[in-house]
This record gives sequence, structure tokens and C-alpha cells, in this order.
Amino acid sequence: MNAEELKQLKEQALEETAEAGSNEALEAVRIRYLGRKGVLQEVMKGLKDQPPQDRPLIGQLANELKQELQAALTDKTAALEGATEGPETLFDYTLPGDWHSMGTRHPLSKITERAVAIFRSLGFTVAEGPDVETVYNNFDALNTPPAHPSRDMQDTFYLDNGDLLRCHTSPVQVRYMQKHRPPVRIIAPGRCYRRDTPDATHSANFHQIEGLYVDEQVSMADLKGTLSYFAGEMMGPGVKIRFRPHFFPFTEPSVECDFSCHVCGGAGCRVCKQSGWIEILGAGMVDPNVFRAVGYDPERITGYAFGMGIERIAMILYGIHDIRMLYENDVRFLKQF
Ligand code: PHE
Repeated sequence: MNAEELKQLKEQALEETAEAGSNEALEAVRIRYLGRKGVLQEVMKGLKDQPPQDRPLIGQLANELKQELQAALTDKTAALEGATEGPETLFDYTLPGDWHSMGTRHPLSKITERAVAIFRSLGFTVAEGPDVETVYNNFDALNTPPAHPSRDMQDTFYLDNGDLLRCHTSPVQVRYMQKHRPPVRIIAPGRCYRRDTPDATHSANFHQIEGLYVDEQVSMADLKGTLSYFAGEMMGPGVKIRFRPHFFPFTEPSVECDFSCHVCGGAGCRVCKQSGWIEILGAGMVDPNVFRAVGYDPERITGYAFGMGIERIAMILYGIHDIRMLYENDVRFLKQF
């Protein structure tokens, strides 16, 4: 190949580079000219057959071809990239970043998740039921007499079709036992509704966590052990519990359960209103009539149940004085948790 041919070859290579429309096409050009078995390699190999006086010029031209083609390929690669990626290649990495403030979990979600984790560690699983319930599941199956005041229109929201908005999470017990045989060990967190006039401690909708443990020979001591463990995990180590006699239609005997004040340790302070105790939940041994309603044999089966208000625990633990703050979704309030 003489000098003239070599110059033409360079023009041709540069032209092909300029015309290449993709990375693949560019790579093909590179291989054809600069590759190990490429045109330039052939030229170099043929150098020894050239007349000695022509060799320096041909060598120089070959070198030029190599360098110019390499530069052209690099430029063209960059140009193709710019074309496909658009303005991103113009992105200024030295600009300050955008700040997005992170959201936080709602205090009610946090308390629910913590409580669920504690009961899960004891072998409870989570069960759920609908907010719209039948009168049967919410009252009848739970041994609530026809004239019980909680059935009153003043207390419970009834729907036109005769159903209601559940006033506690206890109907989840009924649903679960209808579908499962003992042993049963569930907790049921969820939303409840009562016809209360909103004030600092009342809300027409609120949340509860129901617990139910049914097997042979379940005793009040099991209830006490479970709640005592829960109290320590939820409120802090050393928190004790006490039972006070109470009444619920669906448990017998029934109790209200207080936790010793986690703030003053029981000595008396503002949080526990100087009593050393904080009322937390209702509980008891499942009434035989409830077992009959779901087809369990009360002669063989026993169990305990409990129900607690999530808002109440959140308010006590976080020092929230007005329940309505939990529903207003003011981010200045929510981002504190
Ligand atoms: N359902 C009761 C309430 O809403 C709480 C409770 C649940 C009591 C289970 C005993 C057993 O007040």
C-alpha cells in the first residue's frame, strides 16, 4: 500500500466513523481498522516489503491514521451517549441536593406494632375482622343480654340494614372461634366505634387490641402471667399489674387490670393522678355461653380474653393529653414520634 492509498484509507475510516449511528457500528469500525486482524495491522505487516526509502513516510501515515481514528472514535462515542441520554449528561454534580424530610410512623401504629411484637413472641398470631359487624357477632354471641345498655342507639352506631359499626374488637373472637378449633391464641388489633361526644379522652372512633387464648385448662394465672409479661415489655421493666373485680357479659369472672405507674414506679405522680396505678384494660375468663355460641364444649375448654385501648397506651407512654391530636394529622405533632 503506497502513501496515497494510505491517505485515502484514513479519509475512509474517518468518514465511516462520522456516519456510524450506534455504539455497535462504531465498534465495528474500530475492529475493522484498529483490531488485531485489522487493516492497519496489515499495513504494518507489509511495511517490510516496501522500498526502504518509503518506509518512514508510510510508517508515519499509518501512525497518524491510528491516532486520528482513535480520537474520532472517542469523540463520536461521547456524542452518541449525549444523544441518547439527553440533559442528564449536562447534570451539575456540584449543585446542592434536594432535601426531603422523612415521614414517621403514626404513634398509634407504633404502639400497635410494639404490642403485636410482644404477643407474637409469646406465640399469639394476628387475626382481623371487619369494622361493619352483625349484631349477633358484636353482642349476641358475646352473651350480651338484649337490654344491655351498650346496645343502645345512643352508644352504638347502627346501619340502615341492621348491621352496626363494631363497638369493640371482641367480635373477632367470635369469628375466629367459629372457624378454628382450640387451641386458639390470637390478638386482634383494629378500629372500633362508639357514639361518644369527642373530648380530650373520648373519640367516636378509636382502636383496641383484643387477646384470646383458649385451650384445655387455661386458668386465670395464665392470664395474669401473660399480662404481667406484656406490662414489663410495653411500659418498662419492673411494671407490675393488679386485677380489680369487674363485669363484662362475655367473661366470668371479669377484671379490670391496672399497671403500676411506669413514671413514678407506684409512688404517686401526675401521670397516675397520685394513685400509683394506671387503668389499662379489661379481661376475664371466657364465659361458657360464648363457647356454646361458637360450638365449643365449655365442659372441656377454658380460655381467657382481654381488650385494651391503643389510644390510651399511646397517650400514657408519649404524654399526649388530648386524644383528638391523634386524628388531626398535624405534622408538627406527628413528627415528634
Ligand atoms: N370488649 C371489652 C371493652 O371493649 C374489653 C374486653 C375484652 C374485656 C375481652 C374482657 C375481655 O371494653
